Amino acid sequence: MAANRKKNEQQYLLDAIDAFNRRIVIISPEYKILAANDTAMKDNPPDLIGRPCHEALLGRSRPCANCPAGEVMRTGKSSLRYDHWDNSKDSEETLCLFSYPIYKGDEVEALVMLDFDLPALKNMEEKRLQSNAFLRNLLNSAVDAVIASDLTGRILIFNEAAEQIVGYTVGEAMNEITIRDVYPGDGAREVMRMLMSEEYGGVGKLKGYHINGKRKDGELIPISLNASIVYDANGNKVATIGFFHDRRDEIRIQKELENTQVQLLQAEKMASLGKMAAGVAHQLNNPLSGIILYTKLVMDEYDLPEEATADLTRVLEDAERAKETVKELLEFARQTDQEMKPQDINEIISRTIFLLEDQSIFHNIKIEKSLADNLPYISGDAQQLNHVFMNIILNGADALEGKGVLSIKTWYEAQKSAVCIEIADTGSGIPDDVLPHIFEPFYTTKEQGRGTGLGLSMVYGILESHGGTIRAESKVDEGTTFHIELPGMEQTRRDEKIG
Ligand SMILES: Nc1ncnc2c1ncn2[C@@H]1O[C@H](COP(=O)(O)OP(=O)(O)OP(=O)(O)O)[C@@H](O)[C@H]1O
Ligand SMILES: [Mg+2]
Repeated sequence: MAANRKKNEQQYLLDAIDAFNRRIVIISPEYKILAANDTAMKDNPPDLIGRPCHEALLGRSRPCANCPAGEVMRTGKSSLRYDHWDNSKDSEETLCLFSYPIYKGDEVEALVMLDFDLPALKNMEEKRLQSNAFLRNLLNSAVDAVIASDLTGRILIFNEAAEQIVGYTVGEAMNEITIRDVYPGDGAREVMRMLMSEEYGGVGKLKGYHINGKRKDGELIPISLNASIVYDANGNKVATIGFFHDRRDEIRIQKELENTQVQLLQAEKMASLGKMAAGVAHQLNNPLSGIILYTKLVMDEYDLPEEATADLTRVLEDAERAKETVKELLEFARQTDQEMKPQDINEIISRTIFLLEDQSIFHNIKIEKSLADNLPYISGDAQQLNHVFMNIILNGADALEGKGVLSIKTWYEAQKSAVCIEIADTGSGIPDDVLPHIFEPFYTTKEQGRGTGLGLSMVYGILESHGGTIRAESKVDEGTTFHIELPGMEQTRRDEKIG
């Protein structure tokens, strides 16, 4: 009990309580009214004292469920209640009650109940709700996931981005899990350890830490975490807050870049292989010429038995065929800068087919050629044009999966002065959503290792540098047709030239 007060001091205090324009009621732990100030007495029945407060003030038979006095008795501490209160007189009204205990020794002897100025509190509450809503909107509009937890790991803040990444709803996060469920294993403790250390962005801070988060369904997601410790006004640690984002896209893009690098290396390797092939072809050329020359000499100079002549004829034929292949290889693989010369497109197409048709993939593919014989020359680089037809024909063979018809047609379109080439297959066709992308570099629908996706982009680039165009038409399950146009060299119509 307070210090000894003089009589007049006590009187002042009593007068002050009576003059106070809020109702003050003192009740026993059994809810009986022990005393009430003038304001409380004014609005209520005169026989207030001694009656249960719920009955005298609210006309109820039992204590109200949300009476703050109940909590004061349970906890021994003050309590504030702000609630809708069913008032028997005025139907429903909003009441704000503050209650605190008066101790005698260790026991609560009585409780003070005090009501508040409602409009003021209502304002405060509205402002509090508004600022809470503002904070919630702020957190929810954040791109990063935000999770705050108290020092026991209980989650205090969990925004929408966190819901998306971790897969729990806000309600589940707040009530059913702790921060230890979000960082699997020893993750939460590890984060705390780093937060306490100097090394990771200063004490209380952690920047760009890569760790796994665990989704509700158990999936682990790589995340990048910025975290800090939240201190109260006295410098005590009260919570930790983490801002993080999902790194899966970042990792995917990085992987794609690495793959692209591998593919570029592959393309370089292919170019070197081309050079090597050309080198080997060159080396074979001379000995093959020797074989042909000396076989012919032997056949001419000696009177050989018939059988020997037949055998040597076979040697000669095979050597000549080998020389032809070497010549094609040299022509095709020659790694030179673009060398523009008048070219007969039919010859280039025939040469490409010659190189390809013996490959096993073409064994059950019927190649139909319909090459117009009055074509003008076009100005082009033979090796690059070989490349164009090689790529398109190989794509066609892939789409045919070894079986079907591949047709190649050439003609001249006088109006456009263009040499036109059409290469069609009866293969799988190209779906509408794939078709717009087929000329993009590295675009492939083939499994890894089977296609680099460079073929058609090279084709496109080569034709462009020749002043030509290419477009594709396709129907799924029916086949694909590539249309190519190249400017003809007007002065070189073959019929004129030949004629
Ligand atoms: N004749 C065709 N029939 C069906 N799809 C085709 C045809 N030609 C091209 N495509 C599609 O276009 C994609 C790109 O072709 P492109 O030649 O650029 O690359 P790729 O063949 O996949 O790989 P590579 O670099 O080895 O040529 C192919 O993956 C395929 O999906
Ligand atoms: Mg290809």
